[in-house]
Formats: sequence, structure tokens, C-alpha cells
Amino acid sequence: MAEDFDVNLDTPKYYTPSAKCTENAWAGDYSQRYQEFLADPTGFWEDIARELEWYQDWDEALEWNYPYAKWFLNGKLNVTTNCLDRHVFNQRRNKVALMWRGETDDEERIYTYKQLYHAVCRFANGLKSLGVQKGDRVCIYMPVVPEQLIAMLACARIGAVHTVVFGGFGVSALNQRIRAVGAKIVVAADVTVRRGKAIPLKTIVEDAVVNAPSVERIVVLRREETKPVELHPEMEIDFEDLMENQPRECPAEPMDAEDPLFILFTSGTTGEPKGIVHACGGYMVGTYYTTKHVFDVKDNDVYWCTADPGWITGHSYGVYGPLLTGATCLITETTPDYPDAGIWWNLIEEYGVTIFYTAPTAIRMFMRVGEEWPKKYNLSSLRVLGSVGEPLNPEAFEWFYHVIGGAKCPIADTWWQTETGMHMITTMIGEPMRPGFAGKPVPGIVADVVDSDGNSVPPGTGGLLVVKGPWPSMMRTIWENDERYRKYWETIPGCYTAADLAVKDENGYIMVIGRSDDLIVVAGHNIGTAEVESALVSHKAVAEAAVIGKPDPLKGNTIKAFVILIQGHQPTEKLRNELVYHVRMTLGPIAIPSELEFVESLPKTRSGKIMRRVLKAKEMGMDPGDISTLED
Ligand code: PRX
Repeated sequence: MAEDFDVNLDTPKYYTPSAKCTENAWAGDYSQRYQEFLADPTGFWEDIARELEWYQDWDEALEWNYPYAKWFLNGKLNVTTNCLDRHVFNQRRNKVALMWRGETDDEERIYTYKQLYHAVCRFANGLKSLGVQKGDRVCIYMPVVPEQLIAMLACARIGAVHTVVFGGFGVSALNQRIRAVGAKIVVAADVTVRRGKAIPLKTIVEDAVVNAPSVERIVVLRREETKPVELHPEMEIDFEDLMENQPRECPAEPMDAEDPLFILFTSGTTGEPKGIVHACGGYMVGTYYTTKHVFDVKDNDVYWCTADPGWITGHSYGVYGPLLTGATCLITETTPDYPDAGIWWNLIEEYGVTIFYTAPTAIRMFMRVGEEWPKKYNLSSLRVLGSVGEPLNPEAFEWFYHVIGGAKCPIADTWWQTETGMHMITTMIGEPMRPGFAGKPVPGIVADVVDSDGNSVPPGTGGLLVVKGPWPSMMRTIWENDERYRKYWETIPGCYTAADLAVKDENGYIMVIGRSDDLIVVAGHNIGTAEVESALVSHKAVAEAAVIGKPDPLKGNTIKAFVILIQGHQPTEKLRNELVYHVRMTLGPIAIPSELEFVESLPKTRSGKIMRRVLKAKEMGMDPGDISTLED
């Protein structure tokens, strides 16, 4: 448990960002806002919800039937009228909504709010022409291009439920997700571009729709102009053709606040990824509020979240949150070190980015290559920095703060999850920041660090991070696995347990230490040990496999696999490479083990469960702790 972690709470060091960056912040005074929330928790959220447009007001703000919450009961809305129409029919019609930048500077596309609105409406009409109706599932498998966001918003426009699958996932991961949600349509691109090379996606889709009988049509964005991919007309249709001749207006479907907006898969501890279901009303209110208050979005900001919409960060803070606030958003298909490690700093200078949200892995990578890269560019436009996905260690905080933020910008280290939908813990703008600590619960959230009985632990003692009571953007269920949903609320009765370990300081600041379950956070992405193990075991040479996370200075963790071979197979270098390749093809490059060791046996409990904890301790040269349940 958490007590095993050595956390240095001595010599607390706090930073206060420059007043110039924080004055007139939406967040206001943290303590006062938090008190306002405690005095009237639902009224607090209703006030935020009233800043947005609803077709019909809600009857009641919350129905809490533990562990099921309904927010804004009978309220009717469409999230896209709030992301688009609200701006188009008010003052932001000609404001830039989206700026897309490819790998080279001649690849740029810009949409005003009005242009984005019409593109979304036309694609929404296109989807309707394919028979897509409210409640149907649409799978989106694309790189970061404007069409990826257009497809998401078009689904939301007509009430279809999108499932975005990260373009780095392989065939079986995509197939599993398409089948799990019974997707009627798959929207894909021919290629994704990485380090100057076009990497085919369409061939992956072709393989992934085999044994997926729900799929009726595949819409393909054809980016390769010189040699366009061939489409099979019985099933496939060109993205542009589908939009062409469609009316530029599409009435938005009035959605009930509790209707699902999307399903997004996140790794589970059992090998089956979990389809997290988010609801239209609460998700909209939660992402709008946190984008506005945590990042302090104002009308002249240029906002850049580096996450791919294939992940929750891209959903909440790359698409919905910033568009709800009417921000000008930069999206890019760039890799942080291509063509060189200056590309992102170049983009910040070129586009005058003011709000920059990224991940600790990227920050550590930049630290390693040296500050001469950011020093080549003028980063003085930056006003607010954000971090997400894994702990922002103090060294990375310091570097981000001084080298990138010029010792003036607040850094919001935001702790949250796919399941929570929105930021839960961070340091609100204007509050002193403590390196290594995410901060305190955002106003609207009650969170704590508790022992296994649910009692609050004193400062300096590790425990489980929990959220008390419901919040609007919490997941509503897990797609076709409601039992798994209830488990989140069963570990500590009355609380949502995030499966993260944490510790508080004497001022209530929370440091998130790591996972308490079998998930490995690699470069900010959750990978289930069981997922990788079952990919390995699906290879004909493998009898058994166990996977652990190994601390890594750059990625937070890397994956190490232990493999027992089926008799007759030799533990050769060739086989090792073949197994890694097999994982790459099955799950995608993000899940490949960086180390793979052939072993004769694995430590197991008497009931046959692999004790990964023992493997990990051995690997790290640490005491394995209690091994009384070990079989041998
Ligand atoms: O372990 C925590 C870590 O990422 C997990 C959630 O992963 P996912 O659902 O993929 O969402 C990632 C983006 C929100 C958490 O359980 N995590 C996320 N943010 C932080 C973090 N760990 C420490 N500090 C953070 N700021």
C-alpha cells in the first residue's frame, strides 16, 4: 500500500505565479469559491449550467441514487449548439475556432467558428443520409486532423454516440472496440503521418471490421492525393463525397441531459477494456467549467492541448471544453521531436499560444534534449501551463515553470481520469503551487486521501485517493458492464475510488503517487497488464506471460514482460523480436514491452494468480513484502 512510498514532505516550497498572468482570473478566490460550493453544492453547478444554452430547463439539478447520479433532470440540450451555434449566432462568428498544423509549415488549415459549424452540419447530414440515427454508435479511427473533430461533433449534432479509437491502436484493439459498441459506421482516414512517413490506417480498418457484423459503412478520409486509396463502393464511401451537396445547416437533435454523448475505452485490469459512458448534460457542464476556470480561457487566448482526441484529454480539453468556451484552438499532427526538438516551441511562437496543456513525459523528453531548443523561440505569449496524465515530478515542474513559463505562468497539474470526465484536483489559478503536488479539489468536488476503512489519513501518510459524492461529468456506467461500474463505488462505501495512491501535505495539497491496481501508466497512457499478457499468450509459442511496470525517468513507466514458452520453442533473440512485434500488431505500438525475459516459472498464489508484485520487487532489487500466499 501507500505506506511503502518514500515521500519527502520536508522543506515545502511553493511558487506564486506573476499577478500579470493571474489577474481577473475566472477562478477568483479559491477558498471563497470552495465555500460557496459547500454551502450549496447543487446550486453551485446550476449556476455554471445556466451559462450555457438549454432547449428546456432541468426540473431538478441532481438525483443521487447511490452509486447512480442523474444531473439536470429532464433538461434538454445539444452540446454542439453550445460549442458552435452559441458562438456563430453571437459575437464569435468570424473568430478562428480551429487551426490545424501538419508536420511542415505549408500544411495548415484554419476554420472560423462559422466554417466549423457548416462543416459539422454537412457531415452530420451526410451521416444521416447513411441512416445514422440518435443512439447509433459511430467509431472514429483517425489521426489528428480537423475531420476527426468534425466527425465527433457531427455525431453529437444528431445524437449518435461516438467512440473514438486512438489512431495508434492495432487491429485487434480496434476490432474489439467496434464490436463492443456495435458500431454502425466507422469513420477512418487512409493514413496518418508520422515523421514524414504516411502510415496506412485503412488496411487496419479493413482487417478490424472482419467479424464486426454491425458495421454498415466505412467513411474514408483520403489524404493521399497522388495515389488515392481505392474504395470498395459496396461498403466504403469517401469523406468529402459524403459531405458534398449536403445542406450547410443541420438542426441539432435535442438530447436529454442523461442521454449518452460518447463511449471512450480505457484499459481495465482484466484485459477487457472498459467502455466509459459519458452523458450529454453533465459532461458539457463539467468540461466547460473546468476549461474556463482551470485554464482561465479569455476571448483573446490561443489554446493548445497537445493530446490526441483518441484519449479523454483530447475529448474534454482538446475538443469539447475549449469549443464550449469559444476559444481559438490549435491542433497538430506533429511529433514533439520531428523534424527537431524545437517544433513545439516553434509552434508556440508562430501561433502565439497563450495556454499550453501537455504531459509530463513530453516535458521530461524536452528536459533531456536541453533548453537550447526552447531558448531559440520566443515563448513570451504563454500565460497558463497545464500538465496531465501522470505525476509531474518536482524536477519536471521546475523546468516547465522556469524554462517554458519564464517563471511567470501558473502551472495546473491536473489530476483526473477517463472516468471523471473533467479535472478533479489541481492548483487553481492564483493559488500558490507546490512542485510535485497536483493541489486541491477544484471547487465543485470533494476529494480526500483515506485508509482502507475510508478514514481520512493525516498529512504525510499515504492512502487511497477518493471522491466523495457525485459530480456532473462523472461516468454514468460502463458500456454493457454495469457491475464493473458499481465496483468503483464499492471499495470504500459512499466514495468513488480512483485506484490511485496519494498523500496530502499539511495544507491539504495532494500528491498523486501512482496506481494501486494492475494498470501501468506508460507515457501518460493507461495500459492493462492483463491486456498485454493476453496479447502475448495469443502467440503460438507462449504458454504464460506476466507483465509489470518498471519506473522510467522519461516515460514514468515502461513495460517489462516475463514469458514462459511452450515446450519445443527456443528462447531466441528472433523469437523475442517476434513477440514484441506480435504485441505491436495486436494492441499497437503504445503497448509494446521494452524488455522481454524468458523464464521457466512465474510467482503465483496458491489459487494460481500471478503475483506481479513479487516480480516487480525482484526486478527492482526490493523486498517483496508479504509472500505468505506464494505457492512455492
Ligand atoms: O493514475 C492516474 C493518472 O492517470 C490515470 C487516469 O488515466 P486516464 O483515464 O487515461 O486519463 C488520463 C488523463 C486524464 C489516473 O488514475 N493521472 C492522470 N493525471 C494525473 C495522474 N497521475 C498523477 N498526476 C496527474 N496529474
